[in-house]
Amino acid sequence: MSKKVKGVILAGGLGTRLKPLTDITNKHLLPVYNQPMIFHPLKKMVEAGIDEIMLVTGGNNAGDFLRLIGDGRQFGIKRLQYTYQKGEGGIAEALGLAEEFSEGHPIMVFLGDNMVYDSLKPYVRQFSKKTQGGMILLKEVGNLSSYGVPKFKGKTITGIVEKPKKAPSPYAVIGIYFYDALVFKIIKTLKPSGRGELEITDVNNAYIRRQKMQYGILKEHWADAGESIDSWFEANVMMHSEMTKKKRKR
Ligand code: DAU
Repeated sequence: MSKKVKGVILAGGLGTRLKPLTDITNKHLLPVYNQPMIFHPLKKMVEAGIDEIMLVTGGNNAGDFLRLIGDGRQFGIKRLQYTYQKGEGGIAEALGLAEEFSEGHPIMVFLGDNMVYDSLKPYVRQFSKKTQGGMILLKEVGNLSSYGVPKFKGKTITGIVEKPKKAPSPYAVIGIYFYDALVFKIIKTLKPSGRGELEITDVNNAYIRRQKMQYGILKEHWADAGESIDSWFEANVMMHSEMTKKKRKR
């Protein structure tokens, strides 16, 4: 029997790597080509069949999300909840705020600065049939030192290294994750990392140690629009070329 998958979009943090663009607004409200960055994860989730979503945000501009997105009906969202993360305690801390919202359902987590062009529907469908565990998505990229990178033994992932100096494989762990309800128990056991944050990579490693982590590999483009000004600029170019391709097909 398949279980309804709920969505969590993380849009907190201070976005300091995109300064001065983020001095007076939240990173996820910046444009990426023809729309605010946050529209992308919202649309991708709805397209994948997810209609109950929690948006976690923070900082000084949290109220602007409400003005922009409202109740989310224009995107096809049935239930949109907002919550507020005080400070910048890390991705896993932000995710921990969604425990009550999840009501024990499996969840798909989307980092609000990630952009993907593969359909996420097959992954949501596959995950809704599982009763336990987690799933991460990988993409082969060049600049691995900015990301979580998996180590493999054969085809099995044996661990993930966050921002490695020397990458153990050619894949980045992208910012879309699937978890069962165990994730909230794992988050409560985490200790802050060297950068003072509760790391999502520590969550993923906890699943890997329990041998409960699957993975998929993306085929289309992926962008982390929040990694640097250059990556934000490239995300704009990528979105423009995807939109142009779509228009030509029509
Ligand atoms: O983009 C993929 C990468 O995202 C992964 O490969 C890494 O393993 C993962 O740690 C993460 O790395 P970043 O250093 O790029 O994460 P960043 O601090 O940019 O945060 C990503 C999103 O999470 C951002 O859009 C806002 C949200 N966030 C972040 C923090 C630190 C929060 O909501 N709260 C937070 O406290």
